[in-house]
Amino acid sequence: MSNLSKRVQSITPSVTLGIEAKAKELKAQGKDIISLSAGEPDFDTPAFIQQAAIKAMQSGFTRYTAAAGTVELRKAVCAKLERDQGLKFAPDQIVVSCGAKHSLFNIFFALLNEGDEVIIPSPFWLSYPEMAQMFGAKSVFIETAQASGFKVLPAALEKAITPKTKIFVINSPSNPTGAVYSKEELQALVAVLKKHPHVTVVSDEIYETLVYDGRKHYSIAQLDPEVGARTILVNGMSKSYAMTGWRLGYAAFPMKDAAKAVAGFQSHSTSNPTSFAQSGGLAALEQGAADAKAMCEVFEKRRTWFYEQISRLPKLKPFRPEGAFYLFVDIAETGMGSLKLSEALLEEIALAVVPGLPFGSDRHIRMSFATSEKNLEKAVLRLAGWLNKHNPHPASAQR
Ligand SMILES: Cc1ncc(COP(=O)(O)O)c(C=O)c1O
Repeated sequence: MSNLSKRVQSITPSVTLGIEAKAKELKAQGKDIISLSAGEPDFDTPAFIQQAAIKAMQSGFTRYTAAAGTVELRKAVCAKLERDQGLKFAPDQIVVSCGAKHSLFNIFFALLNEGDEVIIPSPFWLSYPEMAQMFGAKSVFIETAQASGFKVLPAALEKAITPKTKIFVINSPSNPTGAVYSKEELQALVAVLKKHPHVTVVSDEIYETLVYDGRKHYSIAQLDPEVGARTILVNGMSKSYAMTGWRLGYAAFPMKDAAKAVAGFQSHSTSNPTSFAQSGGLAALEQGAADAKAMCEVFEKRRTWFYEQISRLPKLKPFRPEGAFYLFVDIAETGMGSLKLSEALLEEIALAVVPGLPFGSDRHIRMSFATSEKNLEKAVLRLAGWLNKHNPHPASAQR
């Protein structure tokens, strides 16, 4: 019998990765599975980014780098944050890690003590509460509603803050809902945060470049200097430049001691992010804007089409995503919970979707449109057939 720590025993493995694995297994057995479970772009990494990494590797850039990432890459992150968010950082305030997930893990490790509270808007990206749990902190969820765009209202934030609050996590554009906070909505939250200077804000902006209908992405860090001075901004290359497997993300710390501490303990865990991956990341940050925009346009077209199709089906009430690449669908009218429904769809029509339960809502499922238009069309047909079979209702069947 293994001797696992209490901490490790308390962790729930990622359900999203689990479903993806099950769908892949069924596919390998020859089943015609359509998977809408992906949390990553279905595009290849742009060729010039691949070339930058290949060139780096061939020219011998294959050794350890500085723990916080190369100075060139950290300077490029600073230039990006100044260009896109108007935020000024120095390279010693940036720590590059092995994915934004790793950056978030490091931040939670650096900030949280046993018994601290982490405020997490719900529905949420499922790793936040797991990470809080790993460090003995308590997750305090703020429930948001589909009718109010899955946004945290200022009064709800005010109510959730206690003297024990250490971190408020904000994720815009959001996984799983696709909600994107407007400047005004963020300003309303800033007004609350100004009254509570003991709270550190962690702003996860990994879907930054994926915003639709002419929206602009705002970072809460750029709206107020005082709140900005206690906001740690997290971003990365995974979603914007189709680089999920490269494992590159970064955090920008207004507080230099925090950056130093994180770089310090990162030197004892991964040492540094992979050297030649960083060269690809540098190319992406410096020259990737056009590719990111082109991918966003494809996602937006799919979003529009997929949302309209799913809206027409009986019993399903999707939220129209404002960003990211997920359709979050209210399934309450099916009378089934999200786990049962997801299982039924996988078994009966070979359609892999992600249950909302681990994201904090059992009345939703998440369907990713980071897959081909052909797959989305097939998925709609299969769902329509399944709903008609399971809910034979003449009025809804005709809709
Ligand atoms: C909201 C959110 N944050 C962070 C991440 C982590 O991204 P990565 O570690 O690939 O940079 C993801 C990935 O699914 C995500 O959805």
